[in-house]
Amino acid sequence: MKVSVIGGGGRVGSNTLFALQCSGIIKELVAIDVAAPDLASGEALDLRHGAALAGAQKIWAGDYSAAANSDVVVITAGLRRKPDESRLELINRNVSMFRTILKEARAGGAFSPNTVLVVVSNPVDILTYIAVEEAGLPAQQVIGTGTMLDTTRFRSLLAEHFHVAAPDVQALILGEHGDSMVPILSTASINGTPMKSFPGYEEGGVRAIFEMTKKAGAEVIRMKGGAGWAIALATRAVVEAILLDTDRVLPVSSLQDGLWGLKNLCISVPTRVRRSGVVERIPIHISAEEQQEIVTSAEVLSKTLADVQSAC
Ligand code: 2OP
Repeated sequence: MKVSVIGGGGRVGSNTLFALQCSGIIKELVAIDVAAPDLASGEALDLRHGAALAGAQKIWAGDYSAAANSDVVVITAGLRRKPDESRLELINRNVSMFRTILKEARAGGAFSPNTVLVVVSNPVDILTYIAVEEAGLPAQQVIGTGTMLDTTRFRSLLAEHFHVAAPDVQALILGEHGDSMVPILSTASINGTPMKSFPGYEEGGVRAIFEMTKKAGAEVIRMKGGAGWAIALATRAVVEAILLDTDRVLPVSSLQDGLWGLKNLCISVPTRVRRSGVVERIPIHISAEEQQEIVTSAEVLSKTLADVQSAC
C-alpha cells in the first residue's frame, strides 16, 4: 500500500509521515513539498535511517508525479493559524494556496481513480469541501480529518481528569473543527460505563475539559508554534481505517447528504470508513440539544463557505 503526504516538509506533514512509518502497514511512503522540496527530501532521508527498526518500507521524496497510484494522498500543507486567529480566519490565506495545490497535484498525476484524499490543512471543513469540488475524485473519496483531532484530544484529557487509561475513554466531538465544535456527552463512556455514571463525574468538570479541548489548538500554537503529534496520530487512524478497509466509524469531515438535515457542506459526523472512502454516515442517538448545536455549527460553516465562494 502506498501513501503520499503533500506538505511532507512541514511539521504536521513530517510528524504524519513518522506516524505512518510506525504503523507498519504501509509499503511505500512519499514526502512531497513543492514549497520546500529540500525539507521533504531531508524528512524522507531521516525516516529511511530508521528503517532497520521501523520495517521494510520504501520511503522517498518527489514532486506530485511521485504520488501516482497512491492508495491515500494526505494534504497537510497550509499556513498555520496565529494564536489569536480562529481557524476560519485562516481561510483567505489558505484557500488560494489549497486550490493551487489541487490543480498542480491533479496535473502532476497525484490522484489516481481509486485514491482516497485525506485533507488535514486548515480550515479543514472548508478545504475538504473545496477538494470535493476540485480534486476530480468522487465525493466519497474525499475525507477531512475534521473533529478526529478534537475527539482524540477530548478523550485524552478526559482520561487524565478521571485518572483512567485514555483508550478506555469514548467521547465524541462532532461538527466544525473549530470554535463551534460540539461535545457529545450523551454517548460518552469509560470502558462501557456511561461517563455520567462514572465515579467523580460532575458536569462542570467535564465542560471545563471540553473548553480546554476547544482551545487546545491555539494553546499548542502559543507554546510551540503549531500542533504536530496528535494530528499525526489522528491522521494515521483515518489512513489505517481506509487502507485496512475496517468499517471503523470515525468523526471525520465529508460532504453531507442529509444526516440531521445537513447538506451541501463538509462537517464531522460519525462516518463509516472503508478502502472506498466514506461508506455511510451513522445516525447515532444524540440529545436534541446536541443535534441543534451541530446544526448551528453547520450554519457557521455554510456562511463561511458562502463568503469564500463569493470572494473567489
Ligand atoms: C489544531 O487544532 C491547528 O487545527 C489545528 O491544532
